[in-house]
Amino acid sequence: MTPRVVTTIAEVRAAVADARRAGKRVGCVPTMGALHAGHIELVAGAKRETDFVVTTIFVNPTQFGPKEDFGKYPRTLAADVQLLDAVGCDLVFAPAVEEMYPEAFTYVDIQKLGDHLCGPSRPGHFRGVCTVVLKLFNIVLPDVAVFGAKDAQQARIIMRMVRDLNVPVTVRIAPTVREPDGLAMSSRNRYLSQAERAVAPKIYESLLATRERAKAEPDVRRLEVELRERLAAIPGARVDYASIVDDATLQPLIRIDCPALAAVAVFMGTTRLIDNVTIP
Ligand code: PAJ
Repeated sequence: MTPRVVTTIAEVRAAVADARRAGKRVGCVPTMGALHAGHIELVAGAKRETDFVVTTIFVNPTQFGPKEDFGKYPRTLAADVQLLDAVGCDLVFAPAVEEMYPEAFTYVDIQKLGDHLCGPSRPGHFRGVCTVVLKLFNIVLPDVAVFGAKDAQQARIIMRMVRDLNVPVTVRIAPTVREPDGLAMSSRNRYLSQAERAVAPKIYESLLATRERAKAEPDVRRLEVELRERLAAIPGARVDYASIVDDATLQPLIRIDCPALAAVAVFMGTTRLIDNVTIP
């Protein structure tokens, strides 16, 4: 059965209440739409653990900077709903901006986890992410919510928010889904020119090379320099950041003496791509 698509908070609350009355467990997968196989894996994961899965599709203005791609972010609702149908999603919540944001808004404030990686490049980004995700949790009241490891910093910040603000939801992190050539799937990949798309898999290759090098080279500064050089050698690439941080706290490291996260953001032309690997 095609998932029902609703646009109001009241409709979501009513549908979820019905599901609960029928004894169902509720799952939630927040997205900004332009769905791909990575998103669909999250929905499949939620469906395995719960009986009623709500996928939210909302291009959230508060997480975009003034010069970022909010205006041109792909909006493909009809195609998204078809993909969600195939994976057994039960309800799609696709609100308008006015439904989510009345004037003069209250925001969630982020602490240390936002200090590095994407935080400095995207001021206010995680504040916007946490605010909308907390709102979505309060609207859907899910038992389980699923996020992707592709956005590693986002996933850790959301887990931290849930713990710090005592949100009664279990957060699951699903592995990054990649194209056959290794490029992490992203709604933004469709911005890439043919030439950019052809070399974009080198981002992941560079991360894998760093993970390999870390077996012999424990010095994080040297590993970072090498990683940055590998990325800078990709034709048309401009490195935003290439960092190796403590996998749990996302704070800088000197030596690889605990589980680490190698994370990068690279501009291919005007398209900003992110990816990461863990270093055990
Ligand atoms: P969006 O970029 O649409 O991603 C929605 C979810 O899909 C996130 O949890 C993200 O980590 C996951 N995802 C994206 N690409 C993936 C891939 N290749 N493999 C596995 N999972 C992947 O992230 C957001 O939206 C927003 O910030 C949101 C959390 C919805 C708040 O607005």
